[in-house]
Amino acid sequence: MSAVGEHGGTTQPVHQDQVSANKRPRILVVDDENGPRQALRLLLKEEYEVRLAVDVIAALQIVDENDIDLVITDLRMPRETGVDLLKQLKEAYPDVEVIILTGYGELETAMKAVEYGAFAYLEKPFDSNTMLQQVHAGLEKHRRELERRRLERLALEANRFDTLGRAVSGMLHDLGTPLSVIGGNIDMIIHNPTDPDVATRLTTMKSQVRHCTDIIRSTMSFLRDQPSRQTLFSLNDVVASCLEVAQPLLRRQRVAVTRDTPVDIPCCTGDFVLVRQAVLNLITNACHAMKDQDEPRDLAVSTWAEGDRACLSVADTGPGIPEASREKVFDTFFTTKGDEGTGLGLAVVKYVMRRHEGNVTLRNSPDGGALFILEFPAATRRTTESQR
Ligand SMILES: Nc1ncnc2c1ncn2[C@@H]1O[C@H](COP(=O)(O)OP(=O)(O)O)[C@@H](O)[C@H]1O
Ligand SMILES: [Mg+2]
Repeated sequence: MSAVGEHGGTTQPVHQDQVSANKRPRILVVDDENGPRQALRLLLKEEYEVRLAVDVIAALQIVDENDIDLVITDLRMPRETGVDLLKQLKEAYPDVEVIILTGYGELETAMKAVEYGAFAYLEKPFDSNTMLQQVHAGLEKHRRELERRRLERLALEANRFDTLGRAVSGMLHDLGTPLSVIGGNIDMIIHNPTDPDVATRLTTMKSQVRHCTDIIRSTMSFLRDQPSRQTLFSLNDVVASCLEVAQPLLRRQRVAVTRDTPVDIPCCTGDFVLVRQAVLNLITNACHAMKDQDEPRDLAVSTWAEGDRACLSVADTGPGIPEASREKVFDTFFTTKGDEGTGLGLAVVKYVMRRHEGNVTLRNSPDGGALFILEFPAATRRTTESQR
């Protein structure tokens, strides 16, 4: 009997993201023996959609083609084992929960499986009620994980639009000055066409036009970048790009910037646009925090290497963050800015760092302001060493 054909359905593959509330959870049972396979199907089919597979290859194919929520797999099978399946599943579909079925005396392997990310293990012959309980619990964990990811994506998207809006309004604001210089010079020429300064005025106007084009070009290139490409990048480039986009805000709020980005730091792998988004959130927050205070309004952005990690910090001389809010500031929607805030900035920082297997820590800087440190796993040896 073909494993793929056993369910006999013609269901179209459904993308993992499309979790609809009324969809019946889909469970895949993997066992080389027909008896336990059918027993599980009978037990589960009232409440769930059940798929059956006879080995690891068939199981992986079903998971690839269907939106499977939970897998129940026998541990011992002739070719690849349940643990082999578990490892491959966790690699490709980390959200799919796995319950392992063990025979007598396989406890140690089963416990190892939990280390590899199995949700639970049950000894054969299993008790039906215990099995149903574990299935419920596994599916609940799966549902929560998908929901968390969905919220993260929404937060990121909303935060991205917020940033794009700020970048565009910063650009429009910046265009005002050169345009009024150009306008003023045109007026002078109209009123006095024979003025000996006409040539100088035209040169000034030309340089102001170039300034406008530069502003537009840098904003356009920022707007064009889309997240979700994996590349090798340097944190120094992230800093450069952020400071360029944040320039209108920094200038408007008269923030003095200190940049310490030594060339000799390791590269990181990941999504440059997401990391830039995170760092920009930190810079924007720092500017907001210092908005209403007298000088100094200092922003220090640094990068450095620490063991096998590449680090970046953003420090300001604002009021800092009270001890009691240190954890909460990273929560989605936590803001102290009322309607001015979205409470998404730091939640996105946390999400981006998790996605890059990195870390964010918050301290108060010696100057009393907030100090955020981002740590990334280094991807290569130091940039300059490999280039030498
Ligand atoms: N550099 C900072 N200095 C002081 N407080 C900060 C700083 N960065 C963040 N915060 C606090 O953390 C809260 C959450 O920040 P964030 O998630 O970016 O949302 P938002 O900026 O929309 O309020 C802010 O409202 C503010 O109270
Ligand atoms: Mg913010």
